[in-house]
Amino acid sequence: MLKVNGIDVYYGKVQALFDVSIEVGGDEIVSIIGANGAGKTTLMKTIMGINKAKKGSIEYKGKTISGIHTHKIVKEKIVYIPEGREIFPNMTVQENLEMGAYSVKMKSSELQEHLDMQYEIFPRLKERIKQKAGSMSGGEQQMLAIARGLMPDPELLMLDEPSLGLAPVIVDDMFDIIVRINKDRKIPVVIVEQNAFMAMSISNRTYVLEVGNLITQGDSKVLMDTDEIKKAYLGG
Ligand SMILES: Nc1ncnc2c1ncn2[C@@H]1O[C@H](COP(=O)(O)OP(=O)(O)OP(=O)(O)O)[C@@H](O)[C@H]1O
Ligand SMILES: [Mg+2]
Repeated sequence: MLKVNGIDVYYGKVQALFDVSIEVGGDEIVSIIGANGAGKTTLMKTIMGINKAKKGSIEYKGKTISGIHTHKIVKEKIVYIPEGREIFPNMTVQENLEMGAYSVKMKSSELQEHLDMQYEIFPRLKERIKQKAGSMSGGEQQMLAIARGLMPDPELLMLDEPSLGLAPVIVDDMFDIIVRINKDRKIPVVIVEQNAFMAMSISNRTYVLEVGNLITQGDSKVLMDTDEIKKAYLGG
């Protein structure tokens, strides 16, 4: 479904990604792990057309999407939920969710249906429909960011550090919800994480980035058992 073929990405003269290739398809969960500055977010932003690749190409459903505008990529129902949430703090929970459906045209009955779907997955948001998003806790804001991303019925969901800054119990909830979304909607999910253990535990496959290079990839369960990954990413 999504194919990234050997991309090089630069910020000015500094190269951030070196010949990176990944593939995501079916209804699998794929994790991308790596230390700070490894290039994880750069890879996501390049898929979304926010950064441009100097070499290589990106295909989605057999079409080349590298070089096209971000708003056209959004129309393909690829949803990227950036790190740091980026919700609208002065809007209410419900207004934030409505903004999520902005890129696709929906009748008001359909919009209500989509809102109800999110409130069913995230009951905490339902209790806070009229609360200003900026006054919610970090975990609640992260839930709102994910719920907003689900409003347009994504066909591919990419989450950048969904566990960032959250307490361990909330992190568990968050990952349960991600697995549920993947199972219920049968859509592929890409998770970018520094929390390598969590990401690998819930994903089918993992890619490991190190200073812009893909150093290894494979079945998550198998990788988790290798000494190299244990030492570098799993604290043992
Ligand atoms: N807008 C930018 N301008 C210049 N350099 C950038 C820019 N964005 C990222 N970089 C650099 O590119 C490299 C990769 O950054 P990136 O944000 O992709 O890493 P990351 O793996 O997402 O890290 P983190 O886990 O900290 O979020 C880093 O060295 C970073 O400083
Ligand atoms: Mg990042």
